[in-house]
Amino acid sequence: MSTHINAKIGDIADIVLLPGDPLRAKYIAETFLENPICYNKVRGMLGYTGTYKGVRVSVQGTGMGMPSLSIYVNELLRFYDVQKLVRVGSCGAMQPHIKIRDVILAQAASTTSNMNNRRFGTCNFAAISDFKLLYDAYQTAQSNGLKVHVGNILSEDSFYDDYNSNRNQNFMDYNILAVEMEAAELYTLAAKYRAQALCVLTVSDSLITAEETTSEERERTFNDMITLVLDTVTK
Ligand code: HPA
Repeated sequence: MSTHINAKIGDIADIVLLPGDPLRAKYIAETFLENPICYNKVRGMLGYTGTYKGVRVSVQGTGMGMPSLSIYVNELLRFYDVQKLVRVGSCGAMQPHIKIRDVILAQAASTTSNMNNRRFGTCNFAAISDFKLLYDAYQTAQSNGLKVHVGNILSEDSFYDDYNSNRNQNFMDYNILAVEMEAAELYTLAAKYRAQALCVLTVSDSLITAEETTSEERERTFNDMITLVLDTVTK
């Protein structure tokens, strides 16, 4: 077992879906996977392994924000040798054409976080998704009849920020599609450990119109997104 994951080597699949909310991990495992087994309850950060269309898949909660995700993703990469990691989360739209309930494939993740400043000093690292996963996800979305946006997103450290700040306007001016709080650290760690990573998001709210999804709408779009991701990683 690693410090925060109480699983034996082999309990976790090569492919792991990463929702922020541990109860979403439970929901995904119980709704989409066959024979799910819970391998982790440490700090309530639930993790499950089961199969989808005969392929072993795990689902691990990460908590919110890059420092929390970093703990789980570091341990998955260092101790459990995970090969494919797909964050499944929600985001706030930062462009007028991005509507609530839309699905976004995060090609790259810009960030306001200090985590990469600690690694790279004054130099900037471009945190990008794995091309093959991105390509496969795009192709799968086309065949599932699901419209997706592909582009650069923003991984923020703070949810309760001043969204009227110039900084957000700056990111909007530079065509950032949406804001969330985890992808840049996921992509950076995947690069270090030569793993494949992708972040797939549903739009839960809009920083432009202040619209929000209802919980019913969130569930429906969430299910479409999970089917897209599972069909992609088991291709
Ligand atoms: N900001 C940051 N993270 C988010 C948001 C947001 O507006 N919506 C969903 N995740």
